[in-house]
Amino acid sequence: MRFGYFDDSRLEYVITRPDTPLPWINYLGMDEYFGIISNTAGGYSFYQDARLRRLTRYRYNNAPLDEGGRYLYIRDNAEESPSYWSPTWQPVRQVLDAYECRHGLGYSTIHSEKNHINARITYFIPLHENLEIWKVEITNHRDQQASLSIFSAVEFCLWDALDDATNFQRNFNIAEVEVEGSVIYHKTEYRERRNHFAYFACSAPLDGFDTSRDAFLGAYRGWDAPLAVEKGHTSASIAHGWQPVGVHQVNLSLAPEESRTLIFLLGYHENDPQRKFESENSQVINKANVKPVIAHYLDEGNANHAFTELAEYWLSLLSLFQVETPDLHANRMINTWNAYQMMVTYNLSRSASYFESGIGRGMGFRDSTQDLLGFVHMVPEKARRRLLDLAATQLTDGGAYHQYQPITKQGNHDIGGNFNDDPLWLVLAVSAYLRETGDWSILDEAVPFDNRPGSETPLIDHLQRSMNYTLERTGPHGLPLIGRADWNDCLNLNSFSATPGQSFQTVTAKDGKVAESVFIAGQFILAAHEMEEIMTRLGRQAESQKYALARQQMEQVIDTAAWDGSWFRRAYNDFGNPVGSVENAEGQIFIEPQGICVMAGIGLEDNRARQALDAVAEKLACEHGIVLVSPAYQQYYLELGEISSYPPGYKENGSVFCHTNPWIMIAETRIGRGDRAFDYYLRINPSAREEKSEIHRCEPYVYAQTISGKEAAIPGEAKNSWLTGTAAWNYVAMTQWILGIRPHYDGLIIDPVFPSSWSGFKAVRHFRGSRYEIEVTRKGPGNQAYICVNGIDISGNLIPVPVEQANKIMVNVVIR
Ligand code: BGC
Ligand code: NOJ
Repeated sequence: MRFGYFDDSRLEYVITRPDTPLPWINYLGMDEYFGIISNTAGGYSFYQDARLRRLTRYRYNNAPLDEGGRYLYIRDNAEESPSYWSPTWQPVRQVLDAYECRHGLGYSTIHSEKNHINARITYFIPLHENLEIWKVEITNHRDQQASLSIFSAVEFCLWDALDDATNFQRNFNIAEVEVEGSVIYHKTEYRERRNHFAYFACSAPLDGFDTSRDAFLGAYRGWDAPLAVEKGHTSASIAHGWQPVGVHQVNLSLAPEESRTLIFLLGYHENDPQRKFESENSQVINKANVKPVIAHYLDEGNANHAFTELAEYWLSLLSLFQVETPDLHANRMINTWNAYQMMVTYNLSRSASYFESGIGRGMGFRDSTQDLLGFVHMVPEKARRRLLDLAATQLTDGGAYHQYQPITKQGNHDIGGNFNDDPLWLVLAVSAYLRETGDWSILDEAVPFDNRPGSETPLIDHLQRSMNYTLERTGPHGLPLIGRADWNDCLNLNSFSATPGQSFQTVTAKDGKVAESVFIAGQFILAAHEMEEIMTRLGRQAESQKYALARQQMEQVIDTAAWDGSWFRRAYNDFGNPVGSVENAEGQIFIEPQGICVMAGIGLEDNRARQALDAVAEKLACEHGIVLVSPAYQQYYLELGEISSYPPGYKENGSVFCHTNPWIMIAETRIGRGDRAFDYYLRINPSAREEKSEIHRCEPYVYAQTISGKEAAIPGEAKNSWLTGTAAWNYVAMTQWILGIRPHYDGLIIDPVFPSSWSGFKAVRHFRGSRYEIEVTRKGPGNQAYICVNGIDISGNLIPVPVEQANKIMVNVVIR
């Protein structure tokens, strides 16, 4: 069952009924001001940090679902039978005669009709601005005059979202607002240490306003039935403490077929701390700098122009890589939605979604480094900056803080480090950046350790320390020590946590000298390959050879200690016993080592890669994707940690953890099985799952972190959509390995391993300033590519970077 459809030509997903299984959300914003918005206008806005600069309130995990948003009420003032509804359905939830929500790239439009009153609301954030625009168009389709009142409504958050939800003894006393003309200013704590405020402006002269929630809603009423709307008039309330809100009232009298457009702006502004106030002895906000911004965007023409700019920006980003394959789901994900999701995950890391409350986490080290992998071609400058920020949190021993705070850029002490996979992701991300851009200058950038001034060394030195970090921490079998965890945050082999509520992420009960990770071993081999290449190109042959040697040694260790007979083991626990082995009663086989080891090239020559992947197909794959572990753990194991805390089939304990599936897709391409790789690709592709939306439940246009697995009580249910490394990795698997268009240090590799049923595909790829038009034709069942560039046959798979950038490089590929 579906709840909407893809409008591919407009790059929109169209939701056709408001009561989706979960709020289906979208993101607004690209720079510093962001919002999440659901298909019924739920959600909230923030500046830079979803915890510390939250503009509006949102009630997570609420009943009814999705409370708090960018709300509007339309009141029909007909004297005999006044009525009201929300044109976005929520919060009133009156049945609408027509409803449609279009989520597009950086904007959402909700369009509805009730009693012949048509409303179309477009929400977006202009590029480079700290404000959002709600463009509201109301049309009277009646054959009589309509007398309407429009009410806007937001509830302000007192900035720190965690404090806002907990510290009521203080917070009920501090709220302050100002109202001037059609603008409501929220200025809690402005008198003291803040120099920023929020504003909520309306393009029309007001017929009323409220800033006190109690006054607007009335006692014991909810957002679904505000007293002011019921009665038809607000009361010019000014909030003193309690809960400040922003409500505008505009009365409209519309002739038959007459339309009116109202523009609302919700924005954030910072003043120079020395000039915060209107005059020296005043406590009134100095509005001199914000008023021109407000005036500019309240103008409909300017707002429309900003919307066009946003659309053009996205088109130009997406045009950098477009494909045309025989598969609709692959096309729409790669060309639009997957690319879009990558940008969102890059911007927000794991902070704010319907499942991430915006108060918990900073930027994850491994999360951000992986988010870069697929998206680096779109905005390489941003990737460069992020890489340098991340590297600047590295510690001198090569270790990494697990997270850093986006406002301060400092490593997060509460979580600390010792997640032993973290440092290696830096190598893999920097190498992806180099392959894409050829910008070797990044390696010379002076980057500090732990942000300590004076500690700067060139970035290349940071990468070497990452490698040494692993080499200096190996265990009894010679495998890398796992530390607190590796990629799988829930495989906590040193935590032995028996205390309820303790965070598995921070508790360590052991010295960590025994438990080892096969995943990190495979990751090390991948990273060592990159370091060999990088050092060779830097002319540092001896160091390149050093990495080659270290890699070969690690390969031997994997051969002796990590092969279980039919697949790769996952780890060794603190007792020195294998995890992910046929010897185990539960948790016999894990997905991660099969993916990473084959990606790293282990077992390609001696059939073990094939055996491992066959075991994946047999033991882990199900119709909803490939589960993380099987059999799932049925009980809690002290020596395994959080993984066994989840019920079987959920999260790390045997769900389809979508981040890992593309590793298997890539691995399958490495052994030449394009049919399998693409079959796995489709199993978790959200568009391909659209038809079972009632089971999948999350948005059909973006990946979710997990889909409950075959052992779950209810298999097939997705959770934690949007902010997941799944976005980048699926993009990488599809574009670089199945379609095989892969940036290399010296050029573009074309090495597709795609389904045997496809007659071919086309792609346009911008790379290092040139535009490649690629056409691949299948003339045989294999994967051998014969490449012709601008009419000339080349040998091998690498198209070297041309001496001069070109507007068009024609690449014709025949596959046999
Ligand atoms: C989740 C993991 C996540 C970790 C750190 C755990 O509860 O299951 O997926 O990586 O928390 O936030
Ligand atoms: C989500 C976390 O953000 C990520 O860092 C981790 O690798 C996965 N969960 C797996 O545990």
